[in-house]
Amino acid sequence: ITETPYFVIDDLLIESVFKPRSDFSHKGNYGKVGIIGGSYGKIGAAVLATRSALKAGAGLTFTIAPQCGYEILQTTCPEAMFIEGGENYVNDFSEVEGMTLGIGPGLGTHEETEAGLIKLLKDNRMPLVLDADALNIISKKQKNIRLIPEKTIITPHPKEFERLFGSTENSYQRLELAKEKAKELRVYIVLKDHHTQIITPQGNVFYNITGNAGLAKGGSGDILTGILTSLLAQGYSEEETCILGVWLHGKAADYASEKHSKESMLPTDVIDELGAVFIELN
Ligand code: APR
Ligand code: MG
Repeated sequence: ITETPYFVIDDLLIESVFKPRSDFSHKGNYGKVGIIGGSYGKIGAAVLATRSALKAGAGLTFTIAPQCGYEILQTTCPEAMFIEGGENYVNDFSEVEGMTLGIGPGLGTHEETEAGLIKLLKDNRMPLVLDADALNIISKKQKNIRLIPEKTIITPHPKEFERLFGSTENSYQRLELAKEKAKELRVYIVLKDHHTQIITPQGNVFYNITGNAGLAKGGSGDILTGILTSLLAQGYSEEETCILGVWLHGKAADYASEKHSKESMLPTDVIDELGAVFIELN
């Protein structure tokens, strides 16, 4: 009998992955996050990713965003530091030394943003979470896909997955294609859906069963990006990051829906429930 490579993320798995903070730890033990995102009219996406990175426990958090987002970010995320990466969109990706990067929320696909991102991917030095417009930029040219560094976590929703890797007939075929691509590129694919699937380069598939339709709102994905980048910066492996991050995101959403309803809960309410989920884990 061969072992099935399909797993459901249950409480037991989460307990084995979660690492409580040690009493004698300091901020240097919990990594340095850099969220790269935001553009004129989409600064909110960078705010959501930054706030969720903070609330998921990162030691130091930076936002690399355009100048037009300066006051917004400093006001809504006072614990994070702002690095100016452009005027109305990000075109300078250079100040990211030593950071674990989450790239894409609200980034836009301006050609200067594209040039900067492609250069960063070619330099390939930092651990990466790629989402949203970072994936859309990569999808513009087929040859860009090879630039995604090994071990990168990518978080496409079904449409972004299709832009990256092509269309499939059904969700079974999509999963098979994801397994093929995760193996070939040696990346972790977080295929976002009602039951999000995590596909590892080794061919394992983890199903998440937390989360609800209250997440079907703009901004929910940006929060997942912040959580994942934060956990990766804190020293969780790529596989642990995906498992714990996707589960946390869904669990916080379940708490938010109990308080506010699926209709009224907002992505910011999901961020606010992260604390309750961590209290239960500790
Ligand atoms: N049940 C459970 N989870 C859900 C459901 C549902 N019915 N609907 C959505 N979700 C979860 C997904 O699993 C995922 O984690 O919410 C998140 C949605 O992520 P995205 O599709 O990326 O949504 P969004 O936040 O709007 O993305 C922000 O980035 O992808 C671009 O164009 C997109 O402008 C948008 C931006
Ligand atoms: Mg998204």
